[in-house]
Amino acid sequence: TGADTTEWQFTLGMIKPHAVSSGAWSYILDIIEKSGLHIISRQELTLSDDRARHFYEEHADKPFFLNLVSMMTEGPVMPLLITGPNAIQAYRRLMGPTSPEGARMTHLYSIRAIYGVDKTRNAVHGSDSAESAAREVRFFFPEFVQKIPTADELAEYA
Ligand code: PPS
Repeated sequence: TGADTTEWQFTLGMIKPHAVSSGAWSYILDIIEKSGLHIISRQELTLSDDRARHFYEEHADKPFFLNLVSMMTEGPVMPLLITGPNAIQAYRRLMGPTSPEGARMTHLYSIRAIYGVDKTRNAVHGSDSAESAAREVRFFFPEFVQKIPTADELAEYA
């Protein structure tokens, strides 16, 4: 629904530790840019246990929460600030389904099909809605969010 409207969006992508340490990260950046999306900023950092729990707080009650947090803190991650037309959904499609095994059946050229290992080590994260994109971009790129002009502020240049 709403597929007929195009909106310029920002979304948060993140390359997971196993895909940073294996070197897959550089191929993943290439796939994202070849798809037409733009990576306008990226970082490389190791999440503390507290910060990983905070980032994934919506999953705190899930049976896999501790597993997810310990995997995300086992080495450096690479948060990506991604922009483009309908970037939130476009990047989610490019990632493919959560399970890499399923992805290899149905979405052969998705990032998770190519670089995912299992449901935990599935190579990449991506914001799943406008609300989570706003929160997650602010989580890793707060100084950037402050500098985005509002539509009103840009109106005099139109
Ligand atoms: S849910 O319940 O539908 O919201 O879950 P899902 O969207 O499939 O997954 C949410 C994130 O949890 C990770 N995940 C897991 N981690 C560890 N172990 C298991 N079994 C597991 N299942 C799902 C999944 O990779 C998602 O991570 P992100 O980083 O958000 O993509």
